[in-house]
Amino acid sequence: MKQSDISHLNPNPDMDEVFTMIHALKSTLSHLGILSPLKKARYELNEAKWKTKLKLKRVAMAYGLAKWKPLIPEQKYARICNQIIDELQQNGHKFGDHLEFGVSRGTSLATMRHSLKKANLGHIRSIGFDSFKGMPAGSEEEGWDKGAFASTEGATKSYLEKQGVDLSNVHLVKGWFNETCNDDTIQKYGMNKASIVMIDCDIYSATCEVLNFIEPLLAETSVLIFDDWGWRSDINEIGQKEAFEEFIDKHPEFTASPRPTYLDQARIFLMKRAQQ
Ligand SMILES: C[S@@+](CC[C@H](N)C(=O)[O-])C[C@H]1O[C@@H](n2cnc3c(N)ncnc32)[C@H](O)[C@@H]1O
Repeated sequence: MKQSDISHLNPNPDMDEVFTMIHALKSTLSHLGILSPLKKARYELNEAKWKTKLKLKRVAMAYGLAKWKPLIPEQKYARICNQIIDELQQNGHKFGDHLEFGVSRGTSLATMRHSLKKANLGHIRSIGFDSFKGMPAGSEEEGWDKGAFASTEGATKSYLEKQGVDLSNVHLVKGWFNETCNDDTIQKYGMNKASIVMIDCDIYSATCEVLNFIEPLLAETSVLIFDDWGWRSDINEIGQKEAFEEFIDKHPEFTASPRPTYLDQARIFLMKRAQQ
């Protein structure tokens, strides 16, 4: 069929002219060698727009101005918290602190507080460590964006209060682990015994820092919870699993017995320290 035969089907014949002009313009730009740079600039602009949007969303979430999606399954975690506490109580455990590394908005911390209260252990302290700025620089190499999961200390406190958590036995230690996991903090809070330790900081490097810090604090019996076990193993990267294996190799005085968990990606161990 000839072009002239179908021309009556085009509802807007003026468009042909526009397409011809666009084509001519593109050819000219290409001829002048500026079509590719223009395309690249448009791509970069879109990328910058997308990144800015993501950053704004993160800031809004960090300050509690945008909807927060819980980072752990609350009900399943609550069931496990109850079980852990129950087992320790059944064995006549004398409770020390509950420590948490990676508090973010505070879902896991609030959940553990509720379980402690339910078991008449509301007087036990929870000490939560977090940058309150999200994941550290360099996390990109370990699979997370810098700043991911950021929640400000204020937003976290107000979330905990809204969840009905009594803050009098909750202490939040703000800062990077390599600045806060030290003797000054131990002295400041008079820390001498940890019974339950939740390590939810996702990455190998931070997990190593935490394990070295808590080692002298671990009671004769304690429970360690890892939220991000082996999630990098399938791509041959190291993570919490490897950090813990190294820790156990370095400290043969500990035995670690697995306990039921709340997620496939999490691990829980009942730790026993051999008497010297
Ligand atoms: C997955 S989030 C924790 C989620 C939290 N347990 C909950 O229930 O919502 C991980 C947290 O670890 C913190 N974090 C990771 N590495 C850290 C480091 N080296 N120093 C301080 N905080 C760190 C981040 O700020 C982030 O809030």
